[in-house]
Amino acid sequence: LGEFAIKKTNHLNPLKKINEEIHTFAALKQKEIDELKKLETFRKEFVADVSHELKTPIFAAQGFVHTLLDGAVNDKNVRTKFLKKAAKSLDGLDALVQDLLTLSQIETGDIKMKFENIDLYNLCLEAIDQFEQRAKAKGIEIQVAKPEKMIIVHADWLRITQVITNLVSNALKYSNENGQVTIRFEVGKKSVTTFVTDNGEGIPKAHLDRIFERFYRVDKSRSRERGGTGLGLAIVKHILEGHKSKAEVQSVPGHGSTFSFKLPLAKLDSRSTESSA
Ligand SMILES: Nc1ncnc2c1ncn2[C@@H]1O[C@H](COP(=O)(O)OP(=O)(O)OP(=O)(O)O)[C@@H](O)[C@H]1O
Ligand SMILES: [Mg+2]
Repeated sequence: LGEFAIKKTNHLNPLKKINEEIHTFAALKQKEIDELKKLETFRKEFVADVSHELKTPIFAAQGFVHTLLDGAVNDKNVRTKFLKKAAKSLDGLDALVQDLLTLSQIETGDIKMKFENIDLYNLCLEAIDQFEQRAKAKGIEIQVAKPEKMIIVHADWLRITQVITNLVSNALKYSNENGQVTIRFEVGKKSVTTFVTDNGEGIPKAHLDRIFERFYRVDKSRSRERGGTGLGLAIVKHILEGHKSKAEVQSVPGHGSTFSFKLPLAKLDSRSTESSA
């Protein structure tokens, strides 16, 4: 009997072990299944969002072109007006597709960040150039605070230009007439924080966590009329992730918002100072 008992426990032990392994394995697989389900829901939502966003400008352009074909083309005044409207919709469509491509390329890793030592103040000055007219038309002043010493960061010039562009574009878009947009820098030992501040409408607290999601807009109806798709900040987030950094936001509704992000200062030897000066 004693012999039998020993045999039995020897048999039981491996069984118990196998049982435990099966349980662990099942739990792991369940976790993977849950992850996949989440991804699938996300993918479905994404496709629905993209289709919806594409449809809007396509329908608009289609409407104008068909009205022209149906006879409006003979009316000289209407002709130009409708063509302009169709062109505007198509430009919007183009911008949307560009944003989608950028996002997907960054996500799939097709865009490799090209790190080099860059002058951050110069980058900002160049980036805001494109907004001169838009700012003037709205009576908004854009200022870049000149740093005491040259700030050289280790970053991708094109991508960080895109970050500044998207942040300043928002600052302008969500500000009132005669607003003020400021870019300033805070230099630390190893990194520099860039702040983009506006005194516009601000963002209610409940939305702050979500504005970096794709297609997320605080006020869908109002931002539609201002032409936003909700991709700008998602792109900002991804580019900064590529720099091992992230965007922060502080906002007081009715008073304005400040977006900020950190970049590492370049480790400069005498040669690289010369070359970037
Ligand atoms: N500076 C800001 N002031 C107030 N609200 C802002 C500001 N920046 C972003 N938001 C809010 O966050 C939302 C998401 O911004 P995001 O830049 O991603 O999209 P968008 O500006 O609507 O469209 P897109 O940038 O794709 O043209 C905006 O719709 C707006 O509601
Ligand atoms: Mg935007």
